[in-house]
Amino acid sequence: MRSAAPGMFEYQLAAVAEFVYLWHGASGYAFFPIVGSGPNSCMPHYHANGRRMEEGDIVVMDFGPDSGYYASDITRTFPVSGRFNAEQARVYRVVLEAQKAALRAVRPGATFNDVEDAADKVLRRGGYDRYKKHVIGHYVGMAVHDVGEAEPFQPGMVLAVEPGVYIPEKSLGIRIEDTVAVTESGCEILTGDVPKEMDEIEKLMSQDSHLMPISDGSPLAFSAPSKGKRETGIDGKPHNGLP
Ligand code: GLY
Ligand code: MN
Ligand code: MN
Repeated sequence: MRSAAPGMFEYQLAAVAEFVYLWHGASGYAFFPIVGSGPNSCMPHYHANGRRMEEGDIVVMDFGPDSGYYASDITRTFPVSGRFNAEQARVYRVVLEAQKAALRAVRPGATFNDVEDAADKVLRRGGYDRYKKHVIGHYVGMAVHDVGEAEPFQPGMVLAVEPGVYIPEKSLGIRIEDTVAVTESGCEILTGDVPKEMDEIEKLMSQDSHLMPISDGSPLAFSAPSKGKRETGIDGKPHNGLP
């Protein structure tokens, strides 16, 4: 999120994520990363990652490293320019509330239907239930969409919980996803260290810490310049951000 800036391409954000998890020892990605900005935010399994992101875009970033033969799966949605506009914030608030309600429903004996019902109640109340495009979640294991579907949860099972609202006429898709482990009394959010409250995201994105190659020809040298220091993108057009 800190590396995002208008003018970057979607694939550049995917590259930053991949650099970070490979750097930390992951063996690769669990699935091809999804970085969907603007209209692409409304395509849940978008993979092309080829669009140049523009001021005002929302970005759905869904990716997960594979580590020790196990997959992971996380989605965060954020405004590329670092501030949610009023409409993005309105939808985001409802999806986040739906995701929290869904997470509260994860416990031994519950099923994906119970989790989906909990999220749907919130989406319905917010008026966004007709903008769903996929089910609430899936098991995660050695495959990112691991086997199993209808059986009641048991402690130790790992699943992804990911409500989403997609409004194509507004180029506005919001999905929030965490991978969680079922415990004796509820669940532990394995991806919980990554901010998802709007104020936390805005604070993080206001920090100066672009992760970007510096232009001395060294592929391994990275710097953290102040936002706005670079004036042109790789195509020579001016923008506020990355190379
Ligand atoms: N990235 C695929 C999924 O979230 O299910
Ligand atoms: Mn995902
Ligand atoms: Mn998922």
